[in-house]
Amino acid sequence: MAHAEGHGDETRRDFLYIATGATGAVVAGAAVWPLIDQMNPSADVLALASIEVDISGVEPGTQLTVKWRGKPVFIRHRTDAEIEAARAVELGDLKDKGAENANAPADATAADENRTLDEEGRWLVMMGVCTHLGCVPLGDGAGDFGGWFCPCHGSHYDTSGRIRVGPAPKNLPIPTAVFLDDTTIKLG
Ligand code: FES
Repeated sequence: MAHAEGHGDETRRDFLYIATGATGAVVAGAAVWPLIDQMNPSADVLALASIEVDISGVEPGTQLTVKWRGKPVFIRHRTDAEIEAARAVELGDLKDKGAENANAPADATAADENRTLDEEGRWLVMMGVCTHLGCVPLGDGAGDFGGWFCPCHGSHYDTSGRIRVGPAPKNLPIPTAVFLDDTTIKLG
């Protein structure tokens, strides 16, 4: 009996430890994916979930990929050159002229200023899912426009995640996102 109770306490402690570790949902790259998978939330919980992401370690010119609602989200800390390139593009040169930004009005244009999370344009947060058939595009300056490239059928996205060449019909969509403080972004 005493043994059985001890074992029960142990199990509860283990569970509390796991739960405490996961509910913070501060995502720091791919390492957190197995942790989320272990929790195995039901589909309805998954659909509602918001997560908070610590971006303090994301240097300019690098990108953090987090898994949110079962899909990858790219969080890029852009360089001055990337911002400049994105903001120099004429709207007329874009295939999809809509912002595709859940945080902007429905009629917002695809001007770079309407796609970044901050006014200065340092932070670009996008679903990492190609708008053609759903592959995960390659980042870190990939493709002909220095942004992202989807090798599945050759879609090139620029440094604002806008489709420039290839079969993808839309810009990479921007999910509901907000800064909670200087180093934390909330998705959802
Ligand atoms: S899925 Fe990306 S180009 Fe087809």
